[in-house]
Amino acid sequence: MAEYDYDVLVIGAGPGGYVAAIRAAQLGLKTACAEARETLGGTCLNVGCIPSKALLHASELFEETSHGAFAKFGVEIAGATLNLDQMHAEKVKAVGELTGGIEYLFKKNKVTWLKGKAVFQDAGTVKVGDQTVTARDIVIATGSVVTPLPGVTIDQKVVVDSTGALALPKVPEHLVVIGGGVIGLELGSVWRRLGAKVTVVEYLDQILPGFDGEVRKESAKLFKKQGMELKTSTKVTGVTVEGDRATVTVEPAAGGAAETLSADAVLVAIGRKPNTDGLNLDAAGVTLNQRGQIEIDHDFATNVDGIWAIGDVVPGPMLAHKAEDEGVAVAENIAGQTGIVNHDVIPSVVYTMPEIAGVGLSEEAAKEKGEIKVGKFPFMANSRAKTNRDTDGFVKVIADAKTDRVLGVWIISSLAGTMIAQAAQAMEFGATSEDIAYTCHAHPTHSEALKEAAMAVQGKPIHI
Ligand code: FAD
Ligand code: NAI
Repeated sequence: MAEYDYDVLVIGAGPGGYVAAIRAAQLGLKTACAEARETLGGTCLNVGCIPSKALLHASELFEETSHGAFAKFGVEIAGATLNLDQMHAEKVKAVGELTGGIEYLFKKNKVTWLKGKAVFQDAGTVKVGDQTVTARDIVIATGSVVTPLPGVTIDQKVVVDSTGALALPKVPEHLVVIGGGVIGLELGSVWRRLGAKVTVVEYLDQILPGFDGEVRKESAKLFKKQGMELKTSTKVTGVTVEGDRATVTVEPAAGGAAETLSADAVLVAIGRKPNTDGLNLDAAGVTLNQRGQIEIDHDFATNVDGIWAIGDVVPGPMLAHKAEDEGVAVAENIAGQTGIVNHDVIPSVVYTMPEIAGVGLSEEAAKEKGEIKVGKFPFMANSRAKTNRDTDGFVKVIADAKTDRVLGVWIISSLAGTMIAQAAQAMEFGATSEDIAYTCHAHPTHSEALKEAAMAVQGKPIHI
């Protein structure tokens, strides 16, 4: 009889967990994955990346058709109207197809889905629902949950978190977003495009912390141009709800006179925190750091032998692709191979219009490390963007002044999310800006702007 029920038990079936489970099974390990939700795919597929991108796409189509964006191209569309129920239905369909797809992949790879909440009994034993299972190796991939704002109650009707904001039954008249981060800007954009007045209240003096300074400034300019109101250096001191309206009290972050905003919807989007609630980590001996994250080493091993952790529950950016790559790597490490994730090259994308993307260091962070060279190229001078009347944004390449090695790339463009992959690949291969500048790029494409920005690092762009 086998010593354990499973070689590997993964807890959580988000992008980190489901990928780890599939890779472990592919490597010949008997694998189970515990998931408390009714469907697989975690935050990302159920209430994160996928439904938000579905609404971003659909709301962009609505804005373009209803605001006459096509007319200048000779496409005249009269009387576009919004059917919000249909928009939500198509989103739900996409989510269903993708979560169902993971279920199919589990069956195909012979991963057993243990339905229910996993609770540690000891370092090798976990209770899932009314079943108790043992495993030689256990991967914790329990993700993250919304950070609450003290004193503000999320009722998912008037005051919502991202999950509520993905399912509002009607377009709010005035949506106040607390937090000018990724969620606030993406979901704020959705509802603005559908007709809401949107006010974003951000504590810091700039939106999008962690992004390159120039990119943060330019993004703010573009969001304002689109009609979004940005109240930076402002803190929310209270939210009261009466019937179907909320009063949001704000004041300058540095202190000063308070003012109130009346809204029929308030989105709290001030970050997410690691989710270890109810796991009973004490029974396993796994410890948390001060931020509530599970600390791991380079191999994703925790402080307890045979217990590993990946994704949003460990330190690092809370991104689906980072969790996925860690999922592959941890399974390979468990199987005795060498699983590695290069955490210096994790792209980040805000899926607004234009998209905002970056990989590697911001100009500020790069400068702190040493001497740098910076090359920039605006889409105003890119022939394809110009042809498409799609000229907002720029590409910025940051390279080491001595070695010319690319340290960071930042892009604002309708295609930034797709283009950033090329930059990430170049950085992964240790490219110099000269390597990019001398790589032949197809014409006419937005990608030529990356080549020209790299040429600008050399001081020799052609088209500007
Ligand atoms: P999760 O996806 O959170 O999955 C963890 C799973 O574990 C959950 O399904 C949970 O039910 C389960 N679980 C927890 N505890 C237990 C337990 N004890 N027993 C059993 N199961 C348990 N990232 C991007 O890269 N791109 C995007 O466009 C993007 N958009 C987003 C939009 C929104 C609105 C939000 C909220 C997030 C978005 N993210 C995006 C972030 C992304 O969703 C997360 O980084 C990603 O889901 C993390 O994956 P994970 O596997 O670590 O955890
Ligand atoms: P975030 O960390 O991106 O932004 C939160 C913002 O709220 C910050 O700008 C912060 O300064 C501000 N803030 C914090 N407390 C505040 C307060 N009291 N008042 C006003 N502002 C306050 O977090 P967000 O947007 O909630 O997203 C959570 C996570 O989900 C992020 O880590 C992100 O990586 C991930 N995500 C990724 C997406 C993508 O990759 N496209 C899309 C959506 C989410």
